[in-house]
Amino acid sequence: MTGTPRLEMRNIGKEYYGTRVLKCVSCSLGEGQVLSLVGENGAGKSTLMNILFGMPVIHATGGYEGEIFLDGEKVAIDSPERAMELGIGMVHQEFMLLPGFTITENVKLNRELTKGNLVSALFGKSLKWLDMPAMRSDARASMDLIGLTIDEMLPVRGLPVGHMQFVEIARELDKKNIRLLVLDEPTAVLTETDAAKLLDAMRLLTSKGISILFISHRLDEVMNVSDTIVVLRDGELISETTPQRTSIDQIAELMVGRKIESSAIAGRPPEAIPDEYILEIRPWTCRERRSRASHWT
Ligand SMILES: Nc1ncnc2c1ncn2[C@@H]1O[C@H](COP(=O)(O)OP(=O)(O)O)[C@@H](O)[C@H]1O
Ligand SMILES: [Mg+2]
Repeated sequence: MTGTPRLEMRNIGKEYYGTRVLKCVSCSLGEGQVLSLVGENGAGKSTLMNILFGMPVIHATGGYEGEIFLDGEKVAIDSPERAMELGIGMVHQEFMLLPGFTITENVKLNRELTKGNLVSALFGKSLKWLDMPAMRSDARASMDLIGLTIDEMLPVRGLPVGHMQFVEIARELDKKNIRLLVLDEPTAVLTETDAAKLLDAMRLLTSKGISILFISHRLDEVMNVSDTIVVLRDGELISETTPQRTSIDQIAELMVGRKIESSAIAGRPPEAIPDEYILEIRPWTCRERRSRASHWT
């Protein structure tokens, strides 16, 4: 990487209730690059990202150790609001959309555009109207940027999960000042086709200079889209490498700390399902209880 990194995390550590879940993790990411964070469940990936996004759970449990630099400037990220001010966007592992609202309303949630009217002029800003045409056109622009072609006024409830994932990304992009986007397992719920579209959208964003921190269990995607791959195991950084210098098998091995069949964790289905029974349930009955006082017989 040349020049000042977009993001540098130095010696990050974290304990939850006396249990150490991150140990002195340091990594950096350049402008317009993708850093993939891989590791088994519980390795500490989400915790590291929650630290970066100033999530309340981190600060409610004693904060963290280490330093974070954004474009060379040391930053204290003590809340998601501060992270957003600094141009960090995050799409969490769990959906954070309001199903009863439209795509536009979700994209603009908490950042609604308003326009004045006579009542607001007399009684104050809180009585302004929503500027729906302006909100729609903003939502449309962010959706177009990642190739989400559906109507921006559709309700979120009932959308395929793949589309919901894109709505979350559109919401982050609408924040305009975005320079670093964190995607925590965005493809876990997607079909192969939607996952491929998401990787295309990621490439488009990096071409505009946005840096991406990508968490995924699908190692084929990780090899496909990353500039840097960081492997975490039990809260420790085990390896920082590039797709050119490693292989799916090697990453899989580093993740678990022993040799493993990579297809088991690369997202591919097993070759064949054995014929013999795994579970058989036969008809069975349960005699009625005779009285309130007696036991089941
Ligand atoms: N809010 C929490 N309170 C206590 N322990 C937590 C909390 N969140 C995560 N942990 C623990 O921290 C470790 C790392 O979890 P996490 O960062 O979610 O891993 P990953 O995202 O890699 O699956 C795990 O052992 C998990 O149980
Ligand atoms: Mg996680």
